[in-house]
Order: sequence, then structure tokens, then C-alpha cells
Amino acid sequence: MRKQVCIVGAGPAGLLLGHLLRAEGIDCVVVEQRSPGYVLGRIRAGVLERITVSLMEQLGLDARLKAEGMPHGEFSLADGERLIHIDLMDLVGQQVTVYGQTELTRDLMEACDARGLQVIYGAEGVTLHDVATDAPFVTYTSSDGTEHRVEARFVVGCDGFHGPSRRAVPASVGREYERVYPFGWLGILADVPPCGAGLIYANHERGFALASQRSPTRSRYYVDVPLTDRLEDWPDERIWDELATRLGPEAAAHITRGPSIEKSIAPLRSYVFAPMRHGSLLLCGDSAHIVPPTGAKGLNLAASDVYYATEALRAFFGANDPDAIGGYSDKALARVWKAERFSWSLTRLMHRFPEDGPFERAMQVAELDYIASSRAAQTSIAENYVGLPV
Ligand code: FAD
Ligand code: DHB
Repeated sequence: MRKQVCIVGAGPAGLLLGHLLRAEGIDCVVVEQRSPGYVLGRIRAGVLERITVSLMEQLGLDARLKAEGMPHGEFSLADGERLIHIDLMDLVGQQVTVYGQTELTRDLMEACDARGLQVIYGAEGVTLHDVATDAPFVTYTSSDGTEHRVEARFVVGCDGFHGPSRRAVPASVGREYERVYPFGWLGILADVPPCGAGLIYANHERGFALASQRSPTRSRYYVDVPLTDRLEDWPDERIWDELATRLGPEAAAHITRGPSIEKSIAPLRSYVFAPMRHGSLLLCGDSAHIVPPTGAKGLNLAASDVYYATEALRAFFGANDPDAIGGYSDKALARVWKAERFSWSLTRLMHRFPEDGPFERAMQVAELDYIASSRAAQTSIAENYVGLPV
């Protein structure tokens, strides 16, 4: 098969890019190792920035997002004693939209046939070849054992942190920046009403907690846990007890408990791979970078990468401009690094690190106090939370 672009991975980055390229008349195919059901079964991000919503609008795939997504004009930081309200609308005149990654992926998936976006699921042994040249190709084996080859002018790696695309860049070319955190987030999804209208991020002496939601009848909560903990260590009642303690009495009074419909533990990591382009290979989303989830940036960064990649590929194929491809990595990384900084600093502020002593704790207390009393500090948090401009 010959295409202008071969996209590896049909998560949100790959599907979004595929649709945007199709809308530009660029011939592409998406190659995904899993099944559609498996991809939709992964419960992940829930907060969409303006850039992510606007790409769905641009595609005309925003009907359900508009109907079911919940605009949030504020969120709160809890420090064990009080709630510090960050009024996004008042501070920066923007809001975020709470809409699950699963739903966004479903909307993109369901539009594939109508929009003529070809997605090959169940592709095994996906391998990238000759990405340093102008004639790269991707090989895979389909479930019936047949071997396939996709020749393309560009390959875009949207295959997440563990996919093969990043590894196709020689070690002598790419550089890794990494920080691993000493805890993970245990998430619980339950069909119970959320404990309040807004999201609450809490730094409690027992650890971090986050109250989030998916709809007026579906809640999403997280607590941080040591990396050594297993799901079996956390029966539902223990999670609800911990949430009630860590989120504080005001939220606890409004928590409705119920059986979990999903539970998972995700490790926290900050990671950047640079550059995000090598020859004819572009990397988008988690294949090039990971943020700890505290700033709700992972999915949104994938969307902004896709925006820059679409611009670059449109300029290449539409205006015969090879420089556009050359500029992709720097443009994407400038925004990635700022989101890495924000996610890292909010993680540092809102979690109790095992290695911290009284000084580090005093710094957290002072910073939270400063944020509570300073409109300038709140504005800085707000403009990062709603998403920096692309
Ligand atoms: P992915 O969603 O990882 O998609 C990559 C796709 O590539 C997958 O479908 C995968 O099956 C496919 N793939 C992998 N290997 C191959 C291969 N060999 N061949 C072909 N296809 C392949 N972000 C937040 O903002 N908030 C959160 O609460 C949050 N929670 C998270 C929890 C977990 C467990 C994880 C892993 C991430 C979480 N994130 C969260 C981050 C957010 O979900 C990601 O940033 C987002 O999914 C990135 O999208 P992506 O398309 O780049 O990568
Ligand atoms: C959710 C996840 C996040 O990482 C975050 O910062 C806010 C909300 C969520 O899953 O709802």
C-alpha cells in the first residue's frame, strides 16, 4: 500500500491527526496494534483545553462534546484546611471542558467510515523502516498472518510511550529527559453523582487526592499511592475512606459512595524526547513526552502536537514547503516544555514526597498561602491550566 502519510497508533493523537489530514485531502492510513474495544476500554484523561475542543469543532465532530461535555470555569486546591478557588473565567476569561478521553476517542472512531479514514486494527509486529530517508515504510502482520507493507512520504508516531516509533530514532540523534516520581495515582470510576460542581486537587498529610467527574451521574476520583501498592490492597471502601479524609470535610459531606466500575494505578513520570522529528518521522503525543497527570495536560499536549504536525504536513503537501517539516519539532517542544514545567510544579506542590523534610513541607505551605492571597499567582496557574496558546 502507498500513502502520503502512515500514522502509527489509533489513540486520540493518531485518530485526530488522521481526520485532520483527511480533511486536508492528504492520503493517510492509521495502523493500530490493538482492537477498537481495547482502545476504548482505557480510562484516562478527562479535562479538555480549548485547543482540543477547537480541533473537534474544526472537524465538525463536536456534537456530542457540546451536548455532554461539561464546561468548568473554576477548580480548587485544598490544603487540608481550606479550599483555594481558582476562578478560570474571572482570571483569564476561559474555561476547560470535562469530557472523557474515551468519549473523544469514540467520536473520532465512529466518524472514520463516513470520513474515509482507514484504520487497521490488530496489526502485529509494527516496524518502522528507513525513517531517515525520503522513502520510509512501515511493516506489520495482520491477524490472519499476512505480512503488509505501507510505503509513505512521512510516518507519524502516535503510538504512545511504549510504541516502536520513538525507538526508530537512533540514540545518537535523540536525547531523553526524565523524572520518575515515587508514587502512582489510583483512579476509581463510579456511577455516583460527583461531590461538587468543580474539580478539587488536595494536598493532605495522608497524601494527594483529586475529585473529578465524567457526567452529573459519573464520578472520577484519584488518590496517590506508593508504587509498591497493588489494586488488591485497595478495596472500594478503603478508597472512599481515604478520599473523604484527604479531600476535607466540606467535600466529604457530599461524597456519594458506590461500587467502582473501573480501578487502575498509573505511575507518574515526566519525560521528554527531543527532537520530535527525525528525517521523515514525526512524533506526536505520548510517543514523545509524558507529563504527570496533575495538570491534566497529557491528552491536550497530544492535541497541540497534532495541530503543529497537521500545519507542517499541509504546508509540505499543499505548498511544497519542506521547511515546515523542519520547524515541527521546535514549535511542538516549546509548548511541551511549558506544560512539563506546569505539570511538574503542580505535582511538586500537591503531593507529599517521601524524601521531603520540614523545609520542603514549609515551602509547600508558603506557596499555597501565596496562591491563596495573590491574584497574580492564581492567574499564572489559571492560564496554564486552561492551556497556553498554540
Ligand atoms: P495513547 O493514548 O497511548 O495511544 C497510543 C496508541 O498507539 C494506542 O492505541 C496503542 O495501542 C497504540 N500502539 C502502541 N504500540 C503500538 C504498536 N507497536 N503498533 C501500533 N500501535 C501501537 N492524562 C491526563 O491528562 N489525565 C489523566 O488522568 C491521565 N491518566 C492516564 C492514565 C494512564 C494509565 C496513562 C497511560 C495515561 C494517562 N494520561 C492522562 C495521559 C493521556 O491519557 C495521554 O497523554 C494520551 O492518551 C496521549 O494520547 P496518545 O494518542 O499520544 O497516546
Ligand atoms: C482528570 C484527570 C487529571 O489528570 C486531572 O488533572 C483532572 C481530571 C480526570 O480523569 O477526570
